[in-house]
Amino acid sequence: MDSLHHPEAKRALRLKLRRKRFELSKQEQRQAARRLCQQLKHLPEIQRARRISLYLPVNGEIDPTPLLSWFRQRNVDVYLPVLRPLSDNSLWFVAYHANTPMVKNRFGIPEPDTRFAAQRRNRLPAWALDTLIVPLVGFDAQANRMGMGGGFYDRSLAFMRRPGPAPALIGVAHAFQQVESLPVEPWDVPLSAVVSDLGVVRAGKKKS
Ligand SMILES: Nc1ncnc2c1ncn2[C@@H]1O[C@H](COP(=O)(O)OP(=O)(O)OP(=O)(O)O)[C@@H](O)[C@H]1O
Ligand SMILES: [Mg+2]
Repeated sequence: MDSLHHPEAKRALRLKLRRKRFELSKQEQRQAARRLCQQLKHLPEIQRARRISLYLPVNGEIDPTPLLSWFRQRNVDVYLPVLRPLSDNSLWFVAYHANTPMVKNRFGIPEPDTRFAAQRRNRLPAWALDTLIVPLVGFDAQANRMGMGGGFYDRSLAFMRRPGPAPALIGVAHAFQQVESLPVEPWDVPLSAVVSDLGVVRAGKKKS
């Protein structure tokens, strides 16, 4: 284990990248979101998906929600991650519409309110989705991902290591969140690609 994997080094890297994200103006955020969504609309994994998840941005995360109206036009079913109650800090995915009742979870992130039966009926495990749009704090040229550090996505996607359904995993980020190298841990689930406001990096591709 080299020094990159040291918990203190990971913490420092997360802090540095999150600060940078936080400093963006509203206008910079809007422009980055627009550029991101242009790239996403051309991605095969996005174009072919009938069931897709995205997230509502917090703390300067790049905003994928301009895609919502495009998905509606195409009759794509859109889901949001929700913390599974009474479980192991993993996520399930609940259908999201303009009128879905929302509630803040323990991290202050709005999510569909699963106290309502309608929301509970419309929830899926990650393996039932075609494509997940996944937030991240850092990524590298091989589409490795560093998240917020809770392990929520890694736990929810652990099934990807076994044979069976394998949704496409598309990380999204501001281009400046790309770093030279990341501490990849055994439990980190590889992404298919990372899309930023400036381009796409694919897993398994060497840096050009
Ligand atoms: N499949 C798993 N089963 C149990 N614990 C896990 C699993 N995956 C990750 N974890 C735990 O989660 C913790 C955080 O993982 P990691 O540092 O990779 O977070 P992250 O990928 O940044 O977070 P997130 O997935 O929420 O964005 C680790 O200490 C690890 O022990
Ligand atoms: Mg991880």
